[in-house]
Amino acid sequence: MTTSVRDLQERSFGATLRRDAWWIAPALTALVLGSFGVYATWAAWVNRYYEWGPYLSPFYSPLIQTTWWPLSPAFLILIFPGAFRATCYYYRKAYYRAFFLDPVACAVGEPRHRYKGETKFPFIVQNLHRYAMYAAVVFIFILSYDVLLATRWPVGGVLADGTMAAGPREFGVGVGTLVMLINVILLACYTFGCHSLRHLIGGNVDCFSCVRGGRARFETWRGVSALNRHHMLFAWCSLFSVALTDVYIRLCAMGVIHDVRLF
Ligand code: FES
Repeated sequence: MTTSVRDLQERSFGATLRRDAWWIAPALTALVLGSFGVYATWAAWVNRYYEWGPYLSPFYSPLIQTTWWPLSPAFLILIFPGAFRATCYYYRKAYYRAFFLDPVACAVGEPRHRYKGETKFPFIVQNLHRYAMYAAVVFIFILSYDVLLATRWPVGGVLADGTMAAGPREFGVGVGTLVMLINVILLACYTFGCHSLRHLIGGNVDCFSCVRGGRARFETWRGVSALNRHHMLFAWCSLFSVALTDVYIRLCAMGVIHDVRLF
């Protein structure tokens, strides 16, 4: 009697004919995404050490100073990029495997055998991804503006407490400016390679040359498609870069490291 993969999947969780280390990818995903979630929540919660000189952590951008919100303003900000990542097509695959084990890997038995897809609450909410994408695009412009501000240094220098001396500003670049720049580039590559954006630009078109602005639309669609081919790579790189940018600015603000002014 032969045993098919389907038989194994329907029998028990983890049953498989695979001999490779299939569990490494979901385990690593759970570790990295879980660590990021814990760090981002903590960084948002503490509500301090998010600014140094002309630098501003991406977790706290745009800078919100309000009295009506009792918690850290970072939570008002992170809900948008958080929703964008949580509903991203790539991340859905990654965390369904890592956290829900559903399925944990191809050709490996699942803990559940009933599949409702994303047609019912809560997963039907995943269909809001396009709207989260609109917000994420706005954040690319906000973070780009932060990079611009990170080149405006006070002539009087940065004071010991990390605030900027009053008076005129001059152009300058520090290591932190480059860290913020790399971060926004990676975030832009991730955001502008979004499947939803690609469909928005190139979807529902049978013939680019038959629609208004077809040439520009086609070229934009090609650009988004080029980024989209590396969507997984940019998803991870931008996740690391956004956390590392916060860490860098935080350590400067705490006085643990000293930023180097390049010119
Ligand atoms: S599909 Fe990944 S960001 Fe839209």
